[in-house]
Amino acid sequence: HVASVTIDASFRIGTVDPRLYGTFVEHMGRSVYTGIYEPSHPTADADGFRSDVADLVRELGPTAARYPGGNFVSGYRWEDGIGPVAERPRRLDLAWRRVETNEVGVDEFARWAERVGLEPILAVNLGTRGVQEAVDLLEYCNHPGGTELSDLRRANGTKEPHDVRTWCLGNELDGPWQVGHKTAHEYGRLAAETARAMRMVDPRIELVACGSSNSAMPTFGAWEATMLEECYDLVDYVSLHTYYDPHVTDRASFLASSLDLEHMIRTVVATADHVGARVRSQRRLRLSVDEWNVWHQSRFAGQDGLAYDDEDPALIEDVYDVTDAVVVGSLLITLLRHCDRVGIACQAQLVNVIAPIMTRADGGAWRQTIFHPFAQASRYARGEVLRVEPRVRRHSTADHDDVPVLDAVATWDEQAGALTVLCVNRDQQEQVRFEADARSFTGLRLLEATVLTADDPTTTNTEAAPDAVRPRPLEGVEVQDGRISAVLPAVSWAVLRFT
Ligand code: AHR
Repeated sequence: HVASVTIDASFRIGTVDPRLYGTFVEHMGRSVYTGIYEPSHPTADADGFRSDVADLVRELGPTAARYPGGNFVSGYRWEDGIGPVAERPRRLDLAWRRVETNEVGVDEFARWAERVGLEPILAVNLGTRGVQEAVDLLEYCNHPGGTELSDLRRANGTKEPHDVRTWCLGNELDGPWQVGHKTAHEYGRLAAETARAMRMVDPRIELVACGSSNSAMPTFGAWEATMLEECYDLVDYVSLHTYYDPHVTDRASFLASSLDLEHMIRTVVATADHVGARVRSQRRLRLSVDEWNVWHQSRFAGQDGLAYDDEDPALIEDVYDVTDAVVVGSLLITLLRHCDRVGIACQAQLVNVIAPIMTRADGGAWRQTIFHPFAQASRYARGEVLRVEPRVRRHSTADHDDVPVLDAVATWDEQAGALTVLCVNRDQQEQVRFEADARSFTGLRLLEATVLTADDPTTTNTEAAPDAVRPRPLEGVEVQDGRISAVLPAVSWAVLRFT
């Protein structure tokens, strides 16, 4: 097939908010313990965090990290995680049926995030707790000093405020699996009152209201409409979560997963704008896609299948293949295409738990296949997003109609003078010839072209073969008088960079 696109600097969608390349660290499985933190590891720093993992995080390039959950946060007492480690309580984590040792808490996390260059995004517990505890945590983190809580932070070793600017008002409270699950009306009221009080502590913060846990929730759309009626003018973002599972559908549908994300984003934007009109607001909310990824979820027995006496700390350590990486690439393209409304997006999660980075306790750390599209997008797809409308064959799959075989987006980083084109070829058999008319960029020169693909799309990276799947040079890319042509193999992710 041929896919033709026009890339023009004046077809501007918006500017990429750096937080579009966010990530997520939950107290779950081996995400924190033996993931980012392992004091007995040979590479551990003075605070017990693994330096080999920190180096991979820097290479991956996330900009922000949501913490500490996830479902975990809905039963969490943040005070358990501060002060002398030896005195911290061990508690039941109701969400993941484990014992939480609280060796890592907000101070350790914030210090680690700063060292690896991540802006912390904190979630407050609106499952079992409420306004007071949220306000206390904010005061502890952001107030300079002179109050009991801010002085406690100083006494615990952090003189300057953590200065956390983005706060999530709970997690997935639309889900019956959530500890402290609520109706949309109950949640909207609690979110409103929590937001009002938090803004009294620190008016500079930005707040994220909980939207839907996925587009198949029976309350999807209605949840957003009802809860926003209560808190529209008090929040800045509506969240949405979405995971895609290769094992519940056919491959062609899985490769078209980003159409569901597209649908979710459009629906939440329309719903939020509708409520904005009803409440006569001048404000326009943005979206926080603060959990997204491929998750082989049907292979997980679910929370109710977990038990406190299970000795194995590992949870949902999915091993990703080439197809998964191509889907992750297509989700990144979709997020970028909506950068005018999507301000925050967090790939869930960062280490071991459905993650781009894997570790072995007391052993190595390596990159999964999905590491690469994220790292390349975060490094290169910055600046302005340009609208690219591929003219290409479309097909139907079991779950989706009108699926373009190739999807693409372009970014123009004026400061760096760099044009980046991200593409996926979803076709499982055929290569696609990509032809772009980019004549509005004078004197265009190819900087680099890479492709991530494999003859066998089920190829994975393992500790023994950590680089089996990685971007390799894409040969044969031509640029002449502003016209670009390249051939993209079946099931592939490609990054073309020009100056
Ligand atoms: O990321 C794993 C879990 O997925 C999170 O804890 C929860 O918010 C979502 O359901």
